[in-house]
Amino acid sequence: MHYSQFTLFTLAAAAAVLATPFHGSATIAARFIPPKGWVAISKTEGRIAAVDGSPNGLYIVHNETHAAFYGEVSAEQLALASTQSLAAGPVPEEFTCVPQCNGQQHSASDISTAENGLQAWFGSGLSWKGSIYYLYNSVYAFGCDYGNGQSATGSDYQASYACVDRNCGTTQGGWDHIANWKVNYGREFGSFGC
Ligand SMILES: *[C@@H]1O[C@H](CO)[C@@H](O)[C@H](O)[C@H]1NC(C)=O
Repeated sequence: MHYSQFTLFTLAAAAAVLATPFHGSATIAARFIPPKGWVAISKTEGRIAAVDGSPNGLYIVHNETHAAFYGEVSAEQLALASTQSLAAGPVPEEFTCVPQCNGQQHSASDISTAENGLQAWFGSGLSWKGSIYYLYNSVYAFGCDYGNGQSATGSDYQASYACVDRNCGTTQGGWDHIANWKVNYGREFGSFGC
């Protein structure tokens, strides 16, 4: 499977197991989601930041100067995400909690809004590649893909930020490195590094 850097697919239904990083299951029905537009970003010394005035919502880095913007979550997406949180299922296969805390502090409620946003977008499955982030009030809830694409669900991602919460506390920045999936999920404030 090969997805270009700028495309986003929601996934549904599953039958056979695929090799990582498309962990989990397959026979995938993919629905392409077009971006709402391109928003300028700054990249300085490997750190990515939205320019002032960027709207809150989901982004995927597109090139050196722009990110594709997909928007905030819908009420429907959020409702699905909170159902998932309540029934937080088994920890996904090959998941590892290898936390790193970065010393930055921010409000727990902004962090949780950004993480809920990314979780709701992941939902029952989202394919992406490169650097993905949900921006909320200068919180970047991000994923850094070191493989050649990821297929993440909301509950995979939830296991990852729960790992950061347990080890760094709910107000500190940090990330979880999941070597088997070739991905880091975390949060940083003001900008983030992938
Ligand atoms: C990045 O992509 C945007 C949107 O497609 C485009 O306008 C811009 O020129 C590109 N920048 C570079 C450096 O390629």
